[in-house]
Amino acid sequence: MNVVVMGQGYVGLPLAMAAVEAGHHVVGFDPDEERCQQLSSGISYVEDVSDKTLRAALKSIRYQPTSDESRLAGFEVAVIAVPTPLKDRQPDLSAVRVAAETLARYVRRGVTVILESTTHPGTTRQIVLPLLEVRSRLRAGVGFHLGFSPERIDPGNEQWTFTNTPKIVSGLTEECRDRVREFYSGITQNVILADSLEEAELAKVFENTYRQVNIALVNEFSRVAHTLGVDVWRTLDLAESKPFGFTKFTPGPGVGGHCLPVDPVFLSHHVRTKYGEPFRLVELAQDINEAQPSYVVARLQNALSTRHGKDLEDARVLALGLAYKPGVGDSRHSPAVEVVTQLLRKGAHVDAVDPHVDGTVHGLITPLPYQDYDAVVLLTAHQEFDLAAIASGARYVLDTRGVMPQAPHIERL
Ligand SMILES: NC(=O)c1ccc[n+]([C@@H]2O[C@H](COP(=O)([O-])OP(=O)(O)OC[C@H]3O[C@@H](n4cnc5c(N)ncnc54)[C@H](O)[C@@H]3O)[C@@H](O)[C@H]2O)c1
Repeated sequence: MNVVVMGQGYVGLPLAMAAVEAGHHVVGFDPDEERCQQLSSGISYVEDVSDKTLRAALKSIRYQPTSDESRLAGFEVAVIAVPTPLKDRQPDLSAVRVAAETLARYVRRGVTVILESTTHPGTTRQIVLPLLEVRSRLRAGVGFHLGFSPERIDPGNEQWTFTNTPKIVSGLTEECRDRVREFYSGITQNVILADSLEEAELAKVFENTYRQVNIALVNEFSRVAHTLGVDVWRTLDLAESKPFGFTKFTPGPGVGGHCLPVDPVFLSHHVRTKYGEPFRLVELAQDINEAQPSYVVARLQNALSTRHGKDLEDARVLALGLAYKPGVGDSRHSPAVEVVTQLLRKGAHVDAVDPHVDGTVHGLITPLPYQDYDAVVLLTAHQEFDLAAIASGARYVLDTRGVMPQAPHIERL
């Protein structure tokens, strides 16, 4: 089958590779020419896709990364996996619109178009559908098929990959859904049917809302525990011993990445602006998580002053980790970056190290001169960080991830 994947990022590239492996001919379209050039030369910028996999796909001649729109002609299935960010704290669907408009010029009778980008319910039917219909002069559900299938990829997760994570599929009509199901059944192991486009769209946003709210709960809980002088991590371990009705979330410097700080806002913004209803818990969770980097900075400031009699302006701080989670190089919306930014703004001298993020001491693992710093703040628990070496070398450590051994000079959030 001739497949087009619009957007060759964290979502689109693994999908394109899976489709190539299943025997499809795939055009990976991305307006970012630099990205396409990198892909064409066999260099992957997505952790979950190795250079080896990419090169095998290129060698098979069934994968073509391109910025040339004319290559979209002749597709049978097209998947839209473009960014859905916030702009001025509001959902920005411009990339979805542009991708749909671009694709629409190549929509022919019988093709299937699937939206994968995370967005608020109603996007496929109310935004993508009309754009495709107007340009193609075909009716969705009659002349061509339309569906929504949310992506659940968890970058860096080796257990749950694109292939074995259950894939929700939906369609404008039953036949549309059948086409979407057929496509994903060939490239993933477990397809789950949704009854409507909106159900599938809402399920995806709710999954991320669930995590966002629970992380906010545990972040605020960690502050309460600290005020009470009780170790939150031990408390959570104890609570987790309950074999039912409790799922453990852990505190940290905030939430980051492309999903948790963004997706719930799509939902809350949508219901507030369109229906005049607040989604209070989401808005509160957003506030709590956004305030978490300042809390980390305040804890560090306090520790430096009480333990070493030092002001932040005179302090040398080593920040370990900039990515939003371990094992990945994605620092978009990363709370670790926000902590470092705030520390710099307050006049601290900060060195930041992340073995996965370009622009820091990339690739550097050990040894680091921990003793040269007044404080080490562990922000991302990458496995490359040598916790024993940090514990023995550092004068003071603020561990925001609860992974360090316990010692008088080590504080956990
Ligand atoms: N990253 C994740 O872990 C993850 C997980 C699940 C869902 N999602 C969702 O998937 C979608 C894509 O996210 P991502 O992380 O892959 O983004 P990304 O930024 O890594 O990649 C998106 C790519 O789309 C390209 N693009 C922009 N406009 C385009 C257009 N008009 N046509 C074609 N390509 C275009 C960009 O150049 C970029 O390379 C978002 O809606 C996101 O919320 C992401």
